[in-house]
Amino acid sequence: MKSLPSASELQALVDNTYQQFHALPGGENASYIPYLASVPSDLAALVIVTATGDIFQAGDCEYSFAIESISKVATLALLMEDVGPETVREKIGAEPTGLPFNSVLALCEHQDKPLSPLVNAGAMASVSLLKADSPEERWQRILDMQRRITTGKLTLSEEINQSEQTTNFHNRGIAWLLYAAGNCFCDPMEACEVYTRQCSTLVTCRDLAVMAATLANLGENPVSGEQVMSAENVAPLLAEMTMEGLYDYSGDWAFEVGLPGKSGVGGGLLAVAPGKLGIAAFSPPLDESGNSVRGQRMIAEVAKALNLNIYR
Ligand code: DON
Repeated sequence: MKSLPSASELQALVDNTYQQFHALPGGENASYIPYLASVPSDLAALVIVTATGDIFQAGDCEYSFAIESISKVATLALLMEDVGPETVREKIGAEPTGLPFNSVLALCEHQDKPLSPLVNAGAMASVSLLKADSPEERWQRILDMQRRITTGKLTLSEEINQSEQTTNFHNRGIAWLLYAAGNCFCDPMEACEVYTRQCSTLVTCRDLAVMAATLANLGENPVSGEQVMSAENVAPLLAEMTMEGLYDYSGDWAFEVGLPGKSGVGGGLLAVAPGKLGIAAFSPPLDESGNSVRGQRMIAEVAKALNLNIYR
């Protein structure tokens, strides 16, 4: 394997890429969750964490924002530990939907089976399939995994959680559809409530880069040194990210950038270069698929400069 450039070259790459693209025009903050509409649109950050734990960063790296859909990665990692990847595939799926992340049509077309644990329906099904005897245990296990796969300091934002729990009617509808079809494995409102909480934790761009680097490092967090998931579960997790990590843009992202990734409507985006490094970017304005406009561009430029495309 070709080694990475020197530390000073990596820092220069992060600085230059951030400078060039952190103010790129286009996109809008998510507005269907009131809190997200109020986040300053000009915030931006770019971070690389290598598989050996070295960190290179630029921009608003200390700013904490809502993890949103990137939480689906941590929950899926935990679920694979609980039931194994084959059960995840059998009960939830491993296919792209080709439709938006909260699509009811995608469910209707597939007998209300989610197809992917990384869309809202599949994420609620994942939450419901976790081993837990109470809603509180279900939530604490997810929060614990979010902490172990990042840097250990994540907390729930009561403000974001309140904003989401009082507006998540569409997701509640999806949870009931799943339940009616036998594809929700606990009380559907418990699955929706805990899923909504898992989206409402606060992360920094550096936290997300550590998460990506943990996946790049076969499940061992390179900053804490902890093995947070089994090495053999990393490949199926990255495959799910390739299929659906950027929703109905996942195919284009694979074509253009060639790295498993995951986005959130809070403006976070991460990508994994297996064996090498994790990259994360943050910038609130989103495109039509719900992916950060500047985040995509910054990560694509870093991937190109370092020749990280896994299909090459
Ligand atoms: O469930 C929702 O709609 C949000 N809590 C999360 C969606 C999301 O992040 C989709 N991402 N691009």
